[in-house]
Amino acid sequence: MKTSKLILAVESSCDETAASVYSSTAGVLSNELFSQIDLHARYGGVVPEIASRSHIEKINPIVQQALDKAHVSLKDIDIFAVTQRPGLPGSLLIGVSFVKALAGVMQKSIIGINHLEGHVFSACIENSIPFPFIGLTASGGHTALYYVRGLGDFELIGQTTDDAAGEAFDKVAKLIGLPYPGGPVIEKLATQVDFHDFFHYPRLKNHATLDFSFSGLKTAVLYDLVKKDLYNLKDKQFLAVGDRALQKQVASSLLVCIGDIFERALERAFKQYPEAQALAFVGGVACNNYLKNRFKTTTSRLKKEFYFPSPRYCTDNAAMIAFVAHYKAQKGQYSDLSLDIY
Ligand code: KG4
Ligand code: ZN
Repeated sequence: MKTSKLILAVESSCDETAASVYSSTAGVLSNELFSQIDLHARYGGVVPEIASRSHIEKINPIVQQALDKAHVSLKDIDIFAVTQRPGLPGSLLIGVSFVKALAGVMQKSIIGINHLEGHVFSACIENSIPFPFIGLTASGGHTALYYVRGLGDFELIGQTTDDAAGEAFDKVAKLIGLPYPGGPVIEKLATQVDFHDFFHYPRLKNHATLDFSFSGLKTAVLYDLVKKDLYNLKDKQFLAVGDRALQKQVASSLLVCIGDIFERALERAFKQYPEAQALAFVGGVACNNYLKNRFKTTTSRLKKEFYFPSPRYCTDNAAMIAFVAHYKAQKGQYSDLSLDIY
């Protein structure tokens, strides 16, 4: 009897069409992706209709690519998994409809997965993290702190009350004429000025909760530029286009400020949950080496371990969806073909 189970997972919640084949004994066999970044770049953010149309075009080839890379075929798959929430409805629907059709035709099990649970446990794909741990998820759509007791057993303990951290990078980048997505380019520019805090943007002073806020930061950057006659509010126009020195100063000050906001929240989280043994930093923003270096110092000072996924598991991917499906299958937590999006 076949003991190893094969999972095919699909992720299409936002602007990445992704598929992964995961073996219950060998782990990730393939992790394929089509990123729509270039399609959305000129709009400065994700355009839902463009995203849906691109998913329709790419989902079949990406799934085939994932099967080919794993050297398996559709008939070898035992469990189909798909991101069912949260995300752009038009994007989620394509992945969910596609995977429901596959599971229905192949008469195999299906499991609907929460994208955020995928991110929270993405650091567990490559690492054996001691429980309980604090999970910090920071992406373009979400920024939250979780207290994680075990696989699939996690509690939201803090979150952004407005923009996500990635959104702050993206919005400020747009403000000063930098391309989308803002995170990577802001990190690159900040590196060139050694992460100096030129403008000292305001840090949130709320120490009572584990929540954070980033929209005020974007506004602070905006009004600082207005004050310096570098931004015309009426025409929504950045007046120092091409001023690389200024872009570096804004980028660096923003990154240091976001680092401070996170560091303070992490200190409070570990104080409130002293039994937490480690920090797992996940999501697209966890590609950022400056933040990772800071958290490494913070956790070592607090005598906690520090984990983060490889960049391919930080940004949206289907391997993290397959990983969650694997432990859900072990617990018998299957969905059925009435699976819907949320
Ligand atoms: O997880 P992800 O791919 O998609 C969402 O679920 O949102 O995250 C994308 C976000 C974008 O906002 C992007 O600017 C940010 O992650 N990001 C970064 C870096 N690379 C990507 N932010 C800061 N530093 C980076 N190196
Ligand atoms: Zn995501």
